Amino acid sequence: MMRPRVLSAAAIAAVTVVGLAVLPNGAATAGDTGLRAAARGTGVKIGTAVNMDALATDAPYAAAGAREFNTVTPENVMKWEVVEPTQGHYDWTQADKLVDVARRNGQAVRGHTLVWHSQLPSWINETDFTPAQLRDLLRRHIFAEMGHFKGRIWAWDVVNEAFNEDGTLRDTIWLRNLGPGYIADAFRWAHQADPSAILFLNDYNVEWIGPKSTAEYNLIKDLRRQGVPVQGFGMQGHLGIQYGLPGDVLENVRRFDALGVKTAFTEVDIRMILPDDQIKTQAQAEGFGLLLRACLLVRHCISYTVWGFTDKYSWVPGVFSGEGSATPMTEDYQKKPAYDTLKETFQLAS
Ligand code: G3I
Repeated sequence: MMRPRVLSAAAIAAVTVVGLAVLPNGAATAGDTGLRAAARGTGVKIGTAVNMDALATDAPYAAAGAREFNTVTPENVMKWEVVEPTQGHYDWTQADKLVDVARRNGQAVRGHTLVWHSQLPSWINETDFTPAQLRDLLRRHIFAEMGHFKGRIWAWDVVNEAFNEDGTLRDTIWLRNLGPGYIADAFRWAHQADPSAILFLNDYNVEWIGPKSTAEYNLIKDLRRQGVPVQGFGMQGHLGIQYGLPGDVLENVRRFDALGVKTAFTEVDIRMILPDDQIKTQAQAEGFGLLLRACLLVRHCISYTVWGFTDKYSWVPGVFSGEGSATPMTEDYQKKPAYDTLKETFQLAS
């Protein structure tokens, strides 16, 4: 049975009183007007990736982050290259700052990411380690990082981007040296390191049904049969309106939900070929809403995270030349139709 989510129009009309958001669950907080207020009571956390330089230097950025979101993900500062820049020497400074700010803001933290082929410290790639040494290094890394934050991280992206578009395993340092079993090992180690954290397999271009998402579906099904604690599937949601929107996203999320794993949209941004215009911006809003509706319409989708909430710090222009405007707010924090669609969609769910 699906979570009952939709309020009647009359109930919606009765829910909001000028100056006070009287929320469906009866909670009313004066001036509580952001996305996190709209999401309250839906069972889905609304989150953002956090740029630590912006958090430290840009007061409107920090204020909006606190007001709008009840979960945060470090965009970069929990990645291996940052936390262990030289072998055996850890630097938790920035990651600790994020966790502390989140605690003060009443925000759950999504840890990102433990096992990935990118943003590895240079000493990993530059040293000729044996397979046995690499396996030991990976295990130590998982225990060290999860141990440092034990009990303070709500969910972890344990393994990130392990598959190719055709559904085969990505040729990474981990696959080459540890074999396909590295994924199961990582999840077992992660659960030992912090049994309280929800453990996710995370990837992009898996929002729709295709070879990649089906390969990950089959892997999760197989691993869970073996008792491997894969507890969540993260769909990053990096989309571009020029490629169209994934019409079968609800069917896709439902099949992971039926496996008994939690799901989440973990890095949503929807880019466009610049310049932006009203049609592109409306299509973008529809994309943000499509993914959120899919999350709200299944029982165990637990969070929806945008990969940055303002164009001011988006990764997109630096990677996709001529593209951008990918987030729900402009560079000067003006709310786009995408923001309004997210808020209205949350408000419809009870
Ligand atoms: O920290 C260095 C800085 O010291 C140096 O001066 C500067 C210029 O070289 O680079 C800085 O590192 C950059 C890092 O972000 C931190 O800002 C890297 O060059 C840059 O490549 C890196 O980009 C990040 C990217 O992952 C790397 O793949 C993006 O910010 C981040 O948004 C992006 O996020 C990924 C997710 O983790 C996984 N899913 C895909 C998503 C988008 O690629």
